[in-house]
Amino acid sequence: TPKSRILGTGHYVPEKVLANVDLEKIVDTSDAWIAERTGIRRRHIAADKENTSDMAAAAARRALESAGLNAADIDMIIVGTISGDSPMPACAVHVQQKLGADNIPAFDVSAACAGFIYGMTIADQFIATGAARCVLVIGVELLSRLLDWQDRTTCVLFGDGAGAVVLGPAEGDGRGLLATRIFTDGSLAHALTIPGGGTAEPLTDEGLAKKRNKVHMMGQEIFRTAIKNLTSASTAVLKASGLTSADLDWVVAHQANLRIITQVSDRLNFPMEKFIINIQEYGNTSSASIPIALDEAVRDGRIQNGHNVLMCALGAGISWGAALVRM
Ligand code: ACO
Repeated sequence: TPKSRILGTGHYVPEKVLANVDLEKIVDTSDAWIAERTGIRRRHIAADKENTSDMAAAAARRALESAGLNAADIDMIIVGTISGDSPMPACAVHVQQKLGADNIPAFDVSAACAGFIYGMTIADQFIATGAARCVLVIGVELLSRLLDWQDRTTCVLFGDGAGAVVLGPAEGDGRGLLATRIFTDGSLAHALTIPGGGTAEPLTDEGLAKKRNKVHMMGQEIFRTAIKNLTSASTAVLKASGLTSADLDWVVAHQANLRIITQVSDRLNFPMEKFIINIQEYGNTSSASIPIALDEAVRDGRIQNGHNVLMCALGAGISWGAALVRM
């Protein structure tokens, strides 16, 4: 029986839109290539004055509002991000201050695109043991500042945004987190990295010139692994819940590439019409993609109370996971 459930959802994306045709002026690419290979048509880009924690706090306020709660009701803040305001302190610290949720524990989880699934998994454990009652879980990413805007193999893929959920105690009516599973395979650590700026490679002028502080990705390796691992993690949470894909109402998969999602749909034998897709509008917002898509589908009435919703994500690490939620 579920121990925690989703009490509210919210998201925030920056106003500024960068369309594929705008990218044609920056790198050697085309609207047709990007749309065909990824499904992306636009992405939202943060304004200069806007930082990661601003987007996270905006999404969190909307999630709290939809839950009918305020900051004083929250026991813990978990932020899934790899693009926080600064290497230290955690992005969650700034979110806490912006929400006015003084003295509650606030920390980041570094699991790249899987950060939101990791965050929900951790929150569920705290709620299950009674150590926390209400936990704010946020996925936020401001990757536009961590991209090499001369590298067409990465800069066309990502966008900025934030999504959040409030998790609270389940009520014994069957609604809530039915199962979560998280995994990491460090043997693929090299496939998607920001190599410079840490202790192994402190930034030098030479490193900056080589864009060692920006995202580097082996796209095809990630692509193949994503299809396999998203399918196996999804199968694992279904099995753990005693359900099959026929019992699902919706799948909210990480929005990295429409072709990945299509393949996962095939392998799960679950129709594409039941996948929540918004990659065309936001690109890959990493840890924010699932909570943004979830909130949009809740607000427009597609996802309703009682629906079985499968979420799955994979990203740098590589780290991946899945969660099955009865809303
Ligand atoms: N515009 C035009 N041409 C391009 C572009 C571009 N933006 N990017 C690459 N190309 C070219 C390549 O140079 C290559 O040309 P060549 O054949 O002359 O060498 C050709 O297009 C095909 O390139 P591929 O890399 O084979 O293209 P592919 O179909 O594999 O698509 C992509 C690339 C979109 C990156 C895909 O591999 C992918 O989506 N990978 C997964 C990425 C992902 O899921 N990341 C998730 C994790 S993100 C995170 O954790 C933060």
